[in-house]
Amino acid sequence: MKYDIKNLKLAEAGLKKIRWAAQEMPVLGAMTELFRKTKPFRNLRIGACLHVSTETANLLRALKAGGARVFLCASNPLSTKDDVCAALVAYEKIPVFAKAGVSRKTFYAHLNSVLQAKPEVIIDDGADLIGLLHTSHVRQAKRILGACEETTTGVNRLKSLSKAGKLLFPVVAVNDAQIKHLFDNRYGTGQSAIDGILRATNFMLAGKKFVVAGYGWVGRGVASRASGMGAEVIVTEINPIRAIEARMDGYSVMTMNEASKIGDIFVTATGNINVIGGRHFSQMKNGAILSNVGHFNVEVNIGELEKLAKKKEQVRREVTAYQLSKDKTLFLLSEGRLVNLAAAEGHPASIMDLSFAAQAKAVEFIIKNRRKLKKQIYTLPPSVDQEIASLKLKSFGIEIDKPGKEQEAYMSGWETGT
Ligand SMILES: NC(=O)c1ccc[n+]([C@@H]2O[C@H](COP(=O)([O-])OP(=O)(O)OC[C@H]3O[C@@H](n4cnc5c(N)ncnc54)[C@H](O)[C@@H]3O)[C@@H](O)[C@H]2O)c1
Repeated sequence: MKYDIKNLKLAEAGLKKIRWAAQEMPVLGAMTELFRKTKPFRNLRIGACLHVSTETANLLRALKAGGARVFLCASNPLSTKDDVCAALVAYEKIPVFAKAGVSRKTFYAHLNSVLQAKPEVIIDDGADLIGLLHTSHVRQAKRILGACEETTTGVNRLKSLSKAGKLLFPVVAVNDAQIKHLFDNRYGTGQSAIDGILRATNFMLAGKKFVVAGYGWVGRGVASRASGMGAEVIVTEINPIRAIEARMDGYSVMTMNEASKIGDIFVTATGNINVIGGRHFSQMKNGAILSNVGHFNVEVNIGELEKLAKKKEQVRREVTAYQLSKDKTLFLLSEGRLVNLAAAEGHPASIMDLSFAAQAKAVEFIIKNRRKLKKQIYTLPPSVDQEIASLKLKSFGIEIDKPGKEQEAYMSGWETGT
């Protein structure tokens, strides 16, 4: 079996962590048992490009239990957990092509290795693997039955590909399922972004001016968790509706130009490019912390920061100091990459239970509908959201009310008025 990982000896440590995460993933666990019996993915070759975490390992185990042959590469060079890679190779016999901290060249070589395995279904996070199938590996695209995309940025890229009429196979936008973005983007990133910032800096959040750029699903989550820890949250936006929402949620709203003069900690969560740049760095306070949770490392303009800096030095794990002048040093966390995955462990398993249950269901959706699907973007049917949510509630031991016949008739009728 071909693979490329850092150290197979880390397998036992990885296995313990994978089992630890599994305890918090009851929905995926129940699906795994069902897949083991029904084998919906028998002999299916799946190429996955995901953050290599303990939760991802549990998704791959579920797909394998369903009969699939899975090949894995990393969706981000900084988030790979080497012990998880080792456990997947040693215990699950899954070919893994991922190592923490690899160069861009090796990162793409790993993506190519997964494509060489001739996958028929793709699971992607950020659309890099799907991107290769539309550029350097177009001939392989014919074999693809469908792909699943995990995150907002990936879905946005694919929507623009589809709009240009260039999408080569069906794609399920897993991110657009309610069960995904409502919880993963908001509560998962909300908690893990704070976790990453704290592990990297060990700073006190209470009393700090905490600037969140972007008030989408991710920004809302980060703002609410920072505020819950006593930080004074400032939101920047380009969308007037989201800006009103942030204001009515109780935060200050202003331009990045204004926020950059007063912020202590900055987190970008926009999926956009160069949200914080040279003119902002120039007016920031000494000691300001810069971080990002958007998918790519383009939200903080690192090129301009490098240009402005007189000196650059790594001062802690995940913290790089950029000295701009005698009196001013700015600190960039995790090289501007996803701070929740690079400096911490990404989303808690309980959240990934929902997202990866949706991923598994998306693969099932592609297989069941393979003859009907067109080269377009699909959203999972709402019944899948309901099914996963019901299983999760059951695992919490929570029951909810069911509408009676009278209520159902009332809600679906127009006859009863004032
Ligand atoms: N770190 C993680 O684990 C994780 C998890 C989920 C999503 N993501 C990524 O986070 C990013 C945001 O995802 P989302 O689901 O919140 O998207 P979203 O579309 O719901 O929200 C993005 C928000 O940013 C705003 N925005 C865009 N450009 C801006 C700018 N220049 N200044 C201020 N605001 C701006 C938009 O108006 C929008 O409200 C994406 O890149 C997504 O892929 C990361």
